[in-house]
Amino acid sequence: MNDTHPPAWRQDFPIDWPQDHYVARRDFTKFLVLTSLPFALVQLGIGLVNWFRRDRGRWPVRAIAPLADIPVGSVLSFAYPDDNDPCLLLRLDDKTLQAFSQKCTHLGCAVTPDEDKKCLYCPCHKGFFALDSGRPLAGPPRRPLPRIRLENRDGIVYAVAMEVNPS
Ligand code: FES
Repeated sequence: MNDTHPPAWRQDFPIDWPQDHYVARRDFTKFLVLTSLPFALVQLGIGLVNWFRRDRGRWPVRAIAPLADIPVGSVLSFAYPDDNDPCLLLRLDDKTLQAFSQKCTHLGCAVTPDEDKKCLYCPCHKGFFALDSGRPLAGPPRRPLPRIRLENRDGIVYAVAMEVNPS
């Protein structure tokens, strides 16, 4: 019997499994780069859009309501910066107006005013935000609600910008 000849089954089934499963370091690196690159590009795009909006004054200016039509203690719904971005305008006292995005910073549910506790409340996971600053008070949210910058122009309240990370 000659030992240099491969067994008969090897001729019928010539696949070498260890070789077949072997992934070269170069191929693995190529795979990592090709899968990471789209994510990095999307993140870069989001960052650029935010930078342009915040630092280049690209936020739209939208009229909300005449100040005279907003009684003290009332809450008004409006949309900013787009029609699909619900926000709340709060008239806390005679001189204080605050406006925040209505999207909870935890998982995006809609926050509503809680009359009893004097705060904004997210019913999804019991998150609470301060009425005067939008900062999280209790529950899972860790980031403040995005604040809408307001301006009073000739008695009309306008939304002029969104502060995504208000301090
Ligand atoms: S989505 Fe608001 S607390 Fe979870």
